Amino acid sequence: MEDLNQIIERARADFAAAATPAALEDVKAVYLGKNGQLTALLKGLAKLPVEEKREFGSKINQAKQAVEAALNERREEFARQKLQERLASEAIDITLPGRSSGTGGIHPVMKTWMRVEEIFRTIGFDVADGPEVENDWYTFTALNNPPNHPARSMQDTFYVDLVDETGKQMPLRPHTSPMQVRYARQHKPPIKVIAPGRTYRVDSDATHSPMFHQVEGLWIDENISFADLKGVYVDFLRRFFETEDLVARFRPSYFPFTEPSAEVDMMFTSGPRKGKWLEICGAGEVHPNVVRNFGLDPERYIGFAFGTGLERLTMLRYGIDDLRLFFEGDLRFLKQFN
Ligand code: PHE
Repeated sequence: MEDLNQIIERARADFAAAATPAALEDVKAVYLGKNGQLTALLKGLAKLPVEEKREFGSKINQAKQAVEAALNERREEFARQKLQERLASEAIDITLPGRSSGTGGIHPVMKTWMRVEEIFRTIGFDVADGPEVENDWYTFTALNNPPNHPARSMQDTFYVDLVDETGKQMPLRPHTSPMQVRYARQHKPPIKVIAPGRTYRVDSDATHSPMFHQVEGLWIDENISFADLKGVYVDFLRRFFETEDLVARFRPSYFPFTEPSAEVDMMFTSGPRKGKWLEICGAGEVHPNVVRNFGLDPERYIGFAFGTGLERLTMLRYGIDDLRLFFEGDLRFLKQFN
């Protein structure tokens, strides 16, 4: 049985010498293939007498198993090698900076909107929202605008190709006041509401944009005076700008829907922006005709209304001097607020 041991030894040596998995399979054929050495020995058994057949047969089988084991060992070695190579080539450098998908942020004007809602809610104001494509009555007539008021003209207000129930062409609301009328007609006094939202005017420069945001406030009850307006609005400004070092003045003005009417200016009394009056708001005591259009008796109910631009508040809060920055979508600008 010298031969068998030699065959096993040679097979082992040949397997070890095979440099690639393909070469290994070629070497395998030399021993275990159809015309391989061990196969040939097994075929030769046929010629032997029965006892020798059994004895020699089992020895050849043992040798065959030994060769197969050696073959499998070498195959596994190749598999391990291949895995190592893959692990090395696909290695991940965990010290590299990550690639994140980036998160969005809240637009500065929207931040102002949220702050304004929060502040007014704490003093008992409801928040109302309504249509941006309005009808003529809510936008102008109910607010005491005479039929030929310039605000009604195409120079000042955008119109869409739609008519309302009365056959009048519908404007994009130039302020959120129509929402106050809607709200007041649906609620009983005390009426205490702010209406923030998008508004539209034919206007475009560094401080005006054809689409902008407004928040209007309305408080109607049996004795809501100009003094209440002053108290509420100045308190709002101090909380919005987070400073007590701020004063406001009420300059006489004119709006069809308020009487008396005022423009509100504010001034910081400390810090880098101190000492300059800044226009911030239109306001006044709601005109009796408008109170009547709310469906209320103006002999009994009275109160104030105001309207402020959310962009304007945002510009003053952050010291931004060009309104167009809000609408350009430049991330270098927007990222500073998040
Ligand atoms: N509606 C006015 C505007 O848009 C602002 C305003 C509101 C003025 C309420 C007085 C009272 O300019």
